[in-house]
Amino acid sequence: MRDVSEMRIDILTLFPEQLAPLLHASILGRAEKKGILELNTVQIRDYTANRQHQVDDYPYGGGWGCVMMAQPLKSCLDAVMASAGGRRSRVIYLSPQGRPFDQQRARELAAEYDHLALVCGHYEGVDERFLEACVDEEISLGDFVLTGGELAALAVADAVCRLVPGVLSDPACYTGESHWEGLLEYPQYTRPEVWEGREVPAVLRGGNQAEIDRWRRKQMLSRTMDKRPELMENRTFSDGDAALLAEIRKDRSRRKLTEPIDCRPMVEADLERVLLILRQAQNYLRRHRVDQWQDGYPNESVIRRDMERGEAFVLTYGGAVCAYFCLSAQPEPVYAGLTDGKWRTEGPYCVLHRNAVEASFRGSGLADRLVAEAEKLTAEQGGRALRADTHRHNEAMKKLMKRCGFTYRGNVVWPVGEGHDPRRQAFEKLL
Ligand SMILES: C[S@@+](CC[C@H](N)C(=O)[O-])C[C@H]1O[C@@H](n2cnc3c(N)ncnc32)[C@H](O)[C@@H]1O
Repeated sequence: MRDVSEMRIDILTLFPEQLAPLLHASILGRAEKKGILELNTVQIRDYTANRQHQVDDYPYGGGWGCVMMAQPLKSCLDAVMASAGGRRSRVIYLSPQGRPFDQQRARELAAEYDHLALVCGHYEGVDERFLEACVDEEISLGDFVLTGGELAALAVADAVCRLVPGVLSDPACYTGESHWEGLLEYPQYTRPEVWEGREVPAVLRGGNQAEIDRWRRKQMLSRTMDKRPELMENRTFSDGDAALLAEIRKDRSRRKLTEPIDCRPMVEADLERVLLILRQAQNYLRRHRVDQWQDGYPNESVIRRDMERGEAFVLTYGGAVCAYFCLSAQPEPVYAGLTDGKWRTEGPYCVLHRNAVEASFRGSGLADRLVAEAEKLTAEQGGRALRADTHRHNEAMKKLMKRCGFTYRGNVVWPVGEGHDPRRQAFEKLL
């Protein structure tokens, strides 16, 4: 047992009994027993200056609920700070208005302080004057509202404490994990070797550590690409990672479509998946230096508008959404301004907009299937032709157009965000 702990955490709360079972259990509990951590809960109510031990009161200006009074909070914090002596302290108020918590902030707090005073609000929150006078920082667990700060305080305490030297057996326990260096962790498996017909990947059973490390790194890159594409943005890749990324793309281009593929109108429940697919497409275009979809378009409101107009469609593969497109039967005013060529359509036509396939389906032929579905829907609506347009550097879309029998007809100009290239090449297929 050490004389002085590496990290002391005081959680100021009206509900210490909610916190104790989690705070003193498992890894943190063991580190506490060894004296590496000192974890305290402090009852704010014990510091009231009134006989009724009242901690809250009605809000000035009216409104729902009660607000925690500044005095008990301040007296409680003073007592905590007095007992923390010369520690490097940080006073944090857990709040939905704070900066969203992340691994980077957890690392900084673990490195820069050896005492955190975590203040939990309740009811409608706390008197603003306490925050102004006493709090160094506000931290949020995310953009939602909890009943009290206790769950958020536990999350912060847990994430910070596991980074304190000695709490985990080896720093490698956390340096290889998700978010440590901006990537998600590789998939993990344990016994048995086969579970419900699913095998543990052979490489993990082969015993060749260099191969295992390479496979894991590749998995980190590919699952970050799929699950959190925004984490890959503005990231510089080592030569090794760049080679693995090239390999991932090559692997994906060989994907075989063996499950049933269906096309149906998009519904609200598809939104999150569709937005992910569009983000992946935006990242793909950025990586290939194509100045298309780089101004925030297409975004949620555009897709919602597609849905409202009945123009939003998804493809599903084995039941899961794998591609999106918008098919509009409305005459496109931008197409009326075609230059350097001529449309050949006689009669009504449809326009294919915002087509994108999920990243792992690139090169699988799914995009061709998407165009075929758009043609079918166009014909069903009485359309005599299908039109589309793309940036002149968007080689993937231009090749798709060619493979699917479209012909280049000329150039159009779209209103796009300032500083972006508005010129597009227009294509048409007569049906
Ligand atoms: C019901 S909330 C008060 C919300 C406050 N009226 C507002 O709208 O900003 C009560 C307490 O829960 C805690 N809390 C709620 N949501 C939180 C979040 N997302 N992250 C951290 N703490 C949160 C805060 O300590 C807050 O004082």
